[in-house]
Amino acid sequence: MTPHEKSPYDSFAWFYDRYWAVPFQEWQRPALDKLLFSELKPGARILDLCCGTGQLSEELAARGFDVVGIDSSEEMLCFARRKVPCGEFLCGDAADFTLERPVDAAVCTFDSLNHLVLPGAVALAFQSVHAALKRGGCFVFDVNTPTAYGRHWDQSACQVSDDHAFFLRGGFDAETRTGTTMITMFRLFDTWQRSDVELQQRPLEIGEVESLLRAAGFAGISSYRAPEDLGMNDHYGEGRVYFRACTSLKEPDEL
Ligand SMILES: C[S@@+](CC[C@H](N)C(=O)[O-])C[C@H]1O[C@@H](n2cnc3c(N)ncnc32)[C@H](O)[C@@H]1O
Repeated sequence: MTPHEKSPYDSFAWFYDRYWAVPFQEWQRPALDKLLFSELKPGARILDLCCGTGQLSEELAARGFDVVGIDSSEEMLCFARRKVPCGEFLCGDAADFTLERPVDAAVCTFDSLNHLVLPGAVALAFQSVHAALKRGGCFVFDVNTPTAYGRHWDQSACQVSDDHAFFLRGGFDAETRTGTTMITMFRLFDTWQRSDVELQQRPLEIGEVESLLRAAGFAGISSYRAPEDLGMNDHYGEGRVYFRACTSLKEPDEL
């Protein structure tokens, strides 16, 4: 999507920030402690790709890192800018961005890369991240593999509060390999306002991710299945895999 297209996350940002951002960030901290935080030098400049409402960016800034966030939803970015006034937040497409200054590391979490459903988009995102990293810089991210779109995806939930209500339905179409989350929200302003959002995801296989990373020039690629390798269970962990991949320390002509 281009930065000028409206993102489905725009009308969903308040809901995301209220219900999803904090629990996921709390849950994934052990993975980031192991794969990212322990490796970073003080004051490092970090790209938070698909930064959403800035929950991780806020933690990075609190740990003293310099943050640049990219997301395709202006409304999600409004929350991020409020949480991290010292951060730099840009509206852009993960599959087509360049940074003026390179970063020491990049991170992209909460199955954001599964949102890149257009053919070739994940490969382009890896190329953009590779180009944005300094030599020897690492990219840490998670993806949902096909297992994630099983039992817990195919569920529904609803909640009714005094000033808002929502209905959420998930589903997976095996033929098109598309996971869908449909959310209908009602919010009370002067009158009740309704908005409907449909989010789509595509599962990514471990081998597919590894070969796309290699094709983009990454080396030192490691994968960690959340439950088995990181001891991170519960519904977030099912079928979720974290990756760590680095750019070479050598100049391209030395390789
Ligand atoms: C599940 S949220 C994760 C947000 C954040 N990383 C977190 O951990 O809370 C997915 C995010 O990806 C963003 N996104 C989806 N497609 C994108 C694209 N093509 N380029 C940039 N951001 C995108 C959405 O706007 C949304 O903020």
